[in-house]
Amino acid sequence: MLEQIKNLIAEVEAFNPADAHELEQFRIRLFGKKGEITLLFEDFKTISGDEKRLVGKEINLLKTLATQKIKDLYEALKTGTRKAPELDLTLPGYPMQLGSRHPISIVKNQITEIFKRLGFTISTGPEIEDDWHVFSALNFPADHPARDMQDTFFIQSDPDILLRTHTSSVQVRVMEREKPPIRTISPGRVFRNEAISARSHCIFHQVEGLYIDRNVSFADLKQTLLFFAREFFGQDTSIRLRPSFFPFTEPSAEMDISCTLCGGKGCNVCKHTGWLEILGCGMVDPNVLENVGIDSQEFTGFAFGMGIERIAMLRFGIRDIRLFFENDLRFLRQFQSAL
Ligand code: DAH
Repeated sequence: MLEQIKNLIAEVEAFNPADAHELEQFRIRLFGKKGEITLLFEDFKTISGDEKRLVGKEINLLKTLATQKIKDLYEALKTGTRKAPELDLTLPGYPMQLGSRHPISIVKNQITEIFKRLGFTISTGPEIEDDWHVFSALNFPADHPARDMQDTFFIQSDPDILLRTHTSSVQVRVMEREKPPIRTISPGRVFRNEAISARSHCIFHQVEGLYIDRNVSFADLKQTLLFFAREFFGQDTSIRLRPSFFPFTEPSAEMDISCTLCGGKGCNVCKHTGWLEILGCGMVDPNVLENVGIDSQEFTGFAFGMGIERIAMLRFGIRDIRLFFENDLRFLRQFQSAL
């Protein structure tokens, strides 16, 4: 009871109503029929002895204080002499927490900006896809290992539905929808049934590129990628294309850039080769064009695809891909000034 009285005394002392209505509410709360002070006096009747003397003193103090305060406040409100709550303009402001972009978003935006300057549009597609858009239309043979349970997350009840393993599926969607000329890039999230380690994750991001028109040649592909590499990694960057294989491109290649750390001399990052692999590319296979109803006699095109995490790791010197997904603020804050 003493505790309750003490709390009320403190509350009465601090009370500073905005208007008469608030003051009246407060008065009722304390002195109304079921008011807190009214009830305290009821309870007071039930105690006896030393305690009664002690509580009595406090309860009377509370009553006097509250009565006086309410009277004064009414008076002040009536005559308009009440002091406004004190406002100290010299106090420091509350610090505002500034967020920052995630490094994957930063790199994704930088990549898309460069291709936008070349006239590429941005297109997106669903993360939950069907076999046609991820594999069949892209010329994957029925028994290709990429369809294997080891690599692909399937929906159990329907093996035709799966999480896309690459953003090449968006190529198919765009080509089904639009007539050439097509010049588009598709950033997005992809999923693979892989063990998580410092170098690979089951969720990551890719940017896919596609250019379809009359007379598009391998030289156009090479020049486009050289332009990108120099804009992104610096004007003294060199590229090299190595023959490779993808079901949806013919011929196919993988592109390396000169090592961003040693400039090609050889170091730990490039394993002393002077080169870093950054993307896959090639001329769109005529079968793919026919699959989406584009005449492969009339049109040709190139495509490329790169992993955003890999590029971000090279750009920022990050050694472990898992850091991108842990959302540790100590990691994320380091990109506050990166854009
Ligand atoms: N889809 C491929 C992958 O996930 C990357 C790729 C390679 C995309 C060559 C392309 C391409 O468009 O032409 O590994």
